[in-house]
Amino acid sequence: MQQAVRGALLSFRADPFEVPLEECVYHEADGVIVMESGVITALGSASDILPKLERGTVVNHYKDCLIMPGFIDCHVHYPQTEIIGAYGEQLIDWLNKYTFVAEQKYKDPDYALGTARLFMREMLGAGTTTASVFCTVEPASVNAFFKASEEYGLRNIAGKVLMDRNAPDALCDTAKTGYDQSKELIENWHGKGRLLYSLTPRFAPTSTDEQMEATGALWKEFPGTYLQTHISENLDEIKWVKELYPNAKNYLDVYDRFGQVGAKAVFGHGVHLEERELDRLSEVGASIAHCPTSNLFLGSGLFDLQGAMKRPNPVRVGLATDLGAGTSFSQFRTMGEAYKIAQLRGQSLSAFEALYVATRGAAKALYLENQIGSLDIGMEADLAILDLQATSLLKYRMEAAESVHDQLFATMTLAPDALVRATYVAGNLVMERDRETHQAQYYIPANDLA
Ligand code: GUN
Ligand code: ZN
Repeated sequence: MQQAVRGALLSFRADPFEVPLEECVYHEADGVIVMESGVITALGSASDILPKLERGTVVNHYKDCLIMPGFIDCHVHYPQTEIIGAYGEQLIDWLNKYTFVAEQKYKDPDYALGTARLFMREMLGAGTTTASVFCTVEPASVNAFFKASEEYGLRNIAGKVLMDRNAPDALCDTAKTGYDQSKELIENWHGKGRLLYSLTPRFAPTSTDEQMEATGALWKEFPGTYLQTHISENLDEIKWVKELYPNAKNYLDVYDRFGQVGAKAVFGHGVHLEERELDRLSEVGASIAHCPTSNLFLGSGLFDLQGAMKRPNPVRVGLATDLGAGTSFSQFRTMGEAYKIAQLRGQSLSAFEALYVATRGAAKALYLENQIGSLDIGMEADLAILDLQATSLLKYRMEAAESVHDQLFATMTLAPDALVRATYVAGNLVMERDRETHQAQYYIPANDLA
């Protein structure tokens, strides 16, 4: 059954860090997107598309709204939702004091499913339709996450955290159990409907050589799976890695030695990477997840986004919230913080560049740019509908906006919670926000993707 949405449309055809803006931005002031069987089948100006619609096609008209591809969050920890905004520590102490306590609750499948469902609702409320997610060391936490993703038909990536040292006993597996459990989870979930698996060694300090070896081997056994971890986030962490691996050339080399650096490897943070590490990431097509709110919250440092994306051999970078060190589910708020980080580095980040790394650029970082991240025929119909008049202040500011860029830039700076009016996943309306009360309503589609 054909259905359609109408509003202003905005998407990217190419990378604004590399290609002139006119060739990148697709903007339609009054556009229509037609969807069928979960994909976009037509799009264009309302005057072109409306006369061609099949009789009986329902058109949801979002007046004063901007329709964008659903946002993509390249690195986030769902079990840390309950510790957002935990006071007073930098990375290593924060992990010990808050994270490793919270993550111990995920042995209980019901508890895990409760948080996974809450996480899914928050994500959809922010217009995010795909995330690359760290679960905990417990396979139950992964099953819960995929089950909750399946309920909405989301294209999510996730994996069981691997840790066999430098963490509480209750959160440690072994090289063998970590391998076996990950393998079973891959067999059960990778490629099921829209779901994808990511091998998830937490970071080099919490895995022994034996576990690092086994993880690299397993990744090789299952081509098409992802690998996600953390790298060069915090100066004390980097010092620790140097002590643990005195023979490694640099932090990335630790992962490289164990066969963990390649296409579909996503490295969280990378704040303090060296040029030769960026060269290596570029060479193999590995990606960085840029986590602005987290880097500011934990005082980790100022990532050089322009430096990574505008070099002669650019690195794939996607935007990420990194909750619970990150402080918001909203990629719009995250873009606003990315701009401030750029400012502190003496650079600027345009709203178009920021939006690109939250949509098509993030899809490219995840090797999913042919499925998600832009509005085009054949793309999966995951949409975020933004209400540019969501609050009285935003409405007032929009009246003074002089261009689409000005509108978007002010919106990413103000980024109110009520910004996202509706979210569609594979063509289904899954979140709708009341314009008066700002309350979100969620709908679980009767999907046949599961
Ligand atoms: N490094 C290792 N584990 C974590 C984590 O859970 N969050 C962040 N921000 N960094 C990490
Ligand atoms: Zn993280």
